[in-house]
Amino acid sequence: MHQDLTPFANRLLKNHRHWKKWARRRGISCYRIYDRDIPEFPLLIDWYEGQVHIQTYLRSNIEISEPELIPILCEVLEISEPDIAFKTRRQQKGSSQYEKTGLYPRPFTVQEAGLSFEVDLHRYLDTGLFLDHRITRSLVRDKSEGRRLLNLFAYTGSFSVYAAAGGAEGSVTVDLSNTYQDWSRRNFQLNQMDESRHLLVREDVFKYLHLAKKNKERFDLIMLDPPSFSNSKRMRDTLDVQRDHPKLLEGCVQLLNPGGEIIFSNNLRKFRIDPTIGEHGEEITSKTIPEDFKRHKVHHCWLFKA
Ligand SMILES: C[S@@+](CC[C@H](N)C(=O)[O-])C[C@H]1O[C@@H](n2cnc3c(N)ncnc32)[C@H](O)[C@@H]1O
Repeated sequence: MHQDLTPFANRLLKNHRHWKKWARRRGISCYRIYDRDIPEFPLLIDWYEGQVHIQTYLRSNIEISEPELIPILCEVLEISEPDIAFKTRRQQKGSSQYEKTGLYPRPFTVQEAGLSFEVDLHRYLDTGLFLDHRITRSLVRDKSEGRRLLNLFAYTGSFSVYAAAGGAEGSVTVDLSNTYQDWSRRNFQLNQMDESRHLLVREDVFKYLHLAKKNKERFDLIMLDPPSFSNSKRMRDTLDVQRDHPKLLEGCVQLLNPGGEIIFSNNLRKFRIDPTIGEHGEEITSKTIPEDFKRHKVHHCWLFKA
């Protein structure tokens, strides 16, 4: 049965106008414009400088067909069909989240806080820049002057680029994937950053933490933003953030300089921090979720100080 799409089109138009004004006032050019606002249309729609990333969930029993939606998106958002990337997400566990979509790469550069980042709305399920961490990235930049950053599960290195922009003395960016480490390198290059001070390490985080402890590495700021689950072939074990966060945080604490800080975040909806760990930190989620993501608690974030 076909749904009447008029309520969706009306809401999308209202949102588009609202968030456009909101974003312009703040100098933001990539932001969320629709976040499951109407339950019958459980979509996520993000605006990346005139291109649109739209996600629907397979688990939802409501089927919204792409051919029906595309003309509405084009008309309401005043864009054309090639500017739209339509993704269907399954409820996933593990590395399949990072699989290619099978579509051709279409990278382009967007701006955030005066910095440049490569994004690709088509090639993978994720785009290269998680917009819900816009404020967390600024926090990292503001805490980086003269400090050494460790960025774990770094993905495309955006936290490291912000740290470099904030005057970090150096950084180590750790991720298991060559694809994403190359992407991080390109993000450093896009911002003309001195790569000799910003090291990229392709390694399993658990293994890196072990080696860094052995080598007596020390950092002033650690960004720990693991995926909820991971079972990459390159890892010895699986990763489950609910199960493994105490071990990860313990590994980080051992690498901190006096006065050092850890920012820990994750996107597991039902995440509960281990109470014996939580009491040593401050939950800062309400400060790190941007206004355009406030409808749903998209991540959890804590700050720990040594
Ligand atoms: C959800 S992303 C992290 C988001 C990132 N911190 C950001 O905000 O841009 C997950 C990343 O973790 C990496 N990854 C997953 N398991 C890993 C492991 N055991 N060691 C290192 N990297 C891992 C993936 O390759 C992927 O780039």
